[in-house]
Amino acid sequence: MKKIAVLTSGGDSPGLNACIRAVVRAGHYYNCEVIGVRRGFKGLIEKQFTSLTPRDVGGIIDKGGTFLLSAREDRFLEYKYRKIAANNIREEKIDGLFVIGGNGSFQGAYLLSKEFGIPIIGIPKTIDNDTYGTEYTIGFDTAVNNAVDAIDKIRDTSESHERVFVIEVMGRKSGFLALAAGISTGADVTLIPEYPFPMHVIVKSIVDALNRGKKFAIVVVAEGVASAKEIADILNEKLKPFDFGGVRYSVLGYIQRGGSPTAYDRIMASRFGVYAVEEFMRGNRDFMVALENGKILSKPLEVSFGRIKKPDLKDFELNNILTI
Ligand code: F6P
Repeated sequence: MKKIAVLTSGGDSPGLNACIRAVVRAGHYYNCEVIGVRRGFKGLIEKQFTSLTPRDVGGIIDKGGTFLLSAREDRFLEYKYRKIAANNIREEKIDGLFVIGGNGSFQGAYLLSKEFGIPIIGIPKTIDNDTYGTEYTIGFDTAVNNAVDAIDKIRDTSESHERVFVIEVMGRKSGFLALAAGISTGADVTLIPEYPFPMHVIVKSIVDALNRGKKFAIVVVAEGVASAKEIADILNEKLKPFDFGGVRYSVLGYIQRGGSPTAYDRIMASRFGVYAVEEFMRGNRDFMVALENGKILSKPLEVSFGRIKKPDLKDFELNNILTI
């Protein structure tokens, strides 16, 4: 009988619970004992282990957040703490550590495998969808829908007051979330770090809209480009001569990371989790689960390190064509 452990690490994202459920239940299906590690890498260092039965993960598929809790654990950057974690894993006789995390978590886990031979299985999640090597990360779809829901609401007030709204979307250094939200809400301008736009072009597109008689506009800005306030301040200055309701801004922030996962995230989390366990049972180790051309497959963990995944240029252009 194999013994596996599962943890969630880094920023939470909707669908984590669905994925934990999938790992736990598939683990039991394939006759493994399953341990849950609370608080991610912090829990590995502090041995916060708890045994998980299929019943323990009942009624959580629809819940946001992670019932195993998560943390950003800086101590894991230090060898001595990784050694403590590795010893705890060995003492518990764990045959495979399932890390549901983003790029940073995979890098930390990879060190456990390289330095101490701990077998790692990575399952990608992040609302940013910026993990290189996989087309999808758990939580992205829900975060996009959360952003779209908020922007649609802001659009109502923007239109009523004839205001230009600048809306800041999460994503760290990447623009996947902002671009998807921009396309889905018909934003007039979408600013993402991967395809920079000079400020005068942004101003011109709003000025053109005002001149055409469209007195409101939505500008979606990825947090990796600038803050909504910075962009709003510039627009305020440049749009002074025009007769409209003024510029306002809004930062969507953590609202994007919470809430019940969409059906798509529940399905992907379930598929990724079951696939990860099945690959482990086939003897595969030190891999990450990935989505490529619609198929779930495994790739070496290192694939995602130090490489930048970029949104499709076609999507960026599509947005520009549609927001004339
Ligand atoms: O990586 C997910 C994410 O929500 C980013 O979009 C954001 O920049 C970051 O995490 C915020 O991190 P924290 O939860 O540590 O404030």
